[in-house]
Amino acid sequence: MISSRWGIMKSSVAGDFASDVAMVREYTMLSHKRLYSLYECVLACEKHNIPGDYVECGVWKGGAVGLMALANLRYGKGRRQLHLFDTFAGIPEPDGEVDGRRAVEEARQLGVAALGRLTPNPQLYDNMGRGVGTIESNRHLLERIIGYDKAFVHYHQGLFQETLPMVAATIDSVAILRLDGDWYASTKVCLHFLYDKVVRGGFVIIDDYGAYEGCRKAVDEFLTERSIKIRLRRVGSELRFFEKP
Ligand SMILES: C[S@@+](CC[C@H](N)C(=O)[O-])C[C@H]1O[C@@H](n2cnc3c(N)ncnc32)[C@H](O)[C@@H]1O
Repeated sequence: MISSRWGIMKSSVAGDFASDVAMVREYTMLSHKRLYSLYECVLACEKHNIPGDYVECGVWKGGAVGLMALANLRYGKGRRQLHLFDTFAGIPEPDGEVDGRRAVEEARQLGVAALGRLTPNPQLYDNMGRGVGTIESNRHLLERIIGYDKAFVHYHQGLFQETLPMVAATIDSVAILRLDGDWYASTKVCLHFLYDKVVRGGFVIIDDYGAYEGCRKAVDEFLTERSIKIRLRRVGSELRFFEKP
């Protein structure tokens, strides 16, 4: 048997991963590859005792957070605080000025404007046949299906632009910061309020870096403004992540 980079037998991780993914599959839009890389980040944090909470900004129905919770239950020594940030009522529309052609075209095809108005719009995902990720669907997965202790699960409902200024100060340290808000404004505000909370050896994951111009611009701008020199690691053509130096 081959040892994985986290010192856990690869074959047993693969089996655990497969059964954990089966539990969250209908609650996430993420590909198998993206979910596997997230699982590896959790394994690294648990194996190396990286302190801090697990945070996702843009959770939809909660499947990615659910996978972090399941991996923590299997490999962690203690429970983590889980923070879920979302409107839980639909994504705001993209901003045609900054989010790029793909975002504008996708919105147009679904009958949604691209004026960057900061109001949750259920149409984007509803029109794709995916439905909106409500607090109830997240709660159902995390608390009833997975059975994570609800004292450790925090739902921050509202636009990131409204919840983060109030909530960020209550979060001490972050081991995994997963950004999945698609647009420039959604990504920039999360980096602004949460990047400094990420501990050394923790992970920052950007789901849409290669998908939407605005998301890439938000990340590149932030790294330049702060003179942060890191190598972004790729998972497929869209996701990027890095370990905080
Ligand atoms: C692509 S989905 C997230 C997918 C999810 N991570 C998964 O595992 O399937 C994007 C989510 O980001 C949320 N979102 C985007 N911008 C937001 C903002 N500015 N404030 C609050 N929620 C936002 C949307 O409501 C939506 O649920």
